[in-house]
Amino acid sequence: MNTQMLNPNEIQKAAEIIKNGGLVGIPTETVYGLGADGLNPGAVSHIFLAKGRPQDNPLILHISEASWLGQYCQDIPEVAWQLAKRFWPGPLTMILRRKPIVPDVVTAGLETVGMRCPAHSMCRAIIEAAEVPIAAPSGNTSGRPSPTTARHMLDDMEGKIDAILDGGSCQVGVESTILDLTCDPPRLLRPGGVPLEELRDVLGDVALDPAITRQMEAGEKPRAPGMKYRHYAPKAPVTVVKGMPVRSAEYILEHLTDSGWEGVICFNEFAHWYSGYLVERLGGVVDTWEQARRLFRALRAMDEAGVKHIWAQCPDESGMGLAVVNRLSKAAGFHIVEV
Ligand code: TXA
Ligand code: MG
Repeated sequence: MNTQMLNPNEIQKAAEIIKNGGLVGIPTETVYGLGADGLNPGAVSHIFLAKGRPQDNPLILHISEASWLGQYCQDIPEVAWQLAKRFWPGPLTMILRRKPIVPDVVTAGLETVGMRCPAHSMCRAIIEAAEVPIAAPSGNTSGRPSPTTARHMLDDMEGKIDAILDGGSCQVGVESTILDLTCDPPRLLRPGGVPLEELRDVLGDVALDPAITRQMEAGEKPRAPGMKYRHYAPKAPVTVVKGMPVRSAEYILEHLTDSGWEGVICFNEFAHWYSGYLVERLGGVVDTWEQARRLFRALRAMDEAGVKHIWAQCPDESGMGLAVVNRLSKAAGFHIVEV
């Protein structure tokens, strides 16, 4: 299959492919998604094949307006509407009880479904034109860092999907925040583009799923099935160094070997410390939004350079920092050094 690269004025073409049961790479404000008609089980099953995704890992349905929620979900709590009003369109996915119209293959047999209304205007235009909810996981091969440009998605999906609509670089850079509203208090399953502090503004109490901060043990079942899998991983092993920025920068400097085959992902302030090594700047120490935007790009750049080991500085967990720490920790298989 020849994967076509579509430009922003080919929304209609992207929508036609989806309507006809094909697969299209769609830009969203978080990361690129691998979209199919969410009501067409055959089309959705091809997503799992193209990504090499385990069948027990459910997909999110993307809608263009909050008013579509009632078509696919039942027992929608009042608070869901409040959250939609404040955060949609935007990087928040709500887990709600599904209606029977949602195919089993989308939810991996669960009685709940993840719903999201993305902020990217081209993404919403595709959904509107296709007139169906679009089921879409992140557009990477399973286990790899998520794609934040059309080019990154093509690197993983060339020859496996019909098309990718190039909507530019993703503005958020990490995936949506996933919030389970079927339990009380609501539970954060994955930190992402809407910071936890902002959810607490609306909801008061929000529980944190343990899978966010530590590796699941054998037999443990995270509420977001995807959180149990190795994820976001570049080819080389990653060591995350946590602590005061100057201390973590020093620790990395002390532990780099002479081989030159190592890479460093660091805050901009320390980039000049590591000459002779491949350096990817994550953003300024306090700019966790920039860090989120650059993280997956940095991990992919390390792969392209073929480094044998990656060291990464890590922000603290406030604001967008929680999502950055979570993705880095998972990329490192929770190989974390505290200094
Ligand atoms: O920003 C995003 O959310 C991107 C863009 C494309 O929208 N999508 C994305 O999808 O990150 P994916 O499939 O890569 O990650 C979705 C996560 C997985 O960990 C999955 O297990 C979890 O959401 N999930 C989906 N439906 C769920 C459900 N009903 N209950 C619990 N977790 C669910
Ligand atoms: Mg993903």
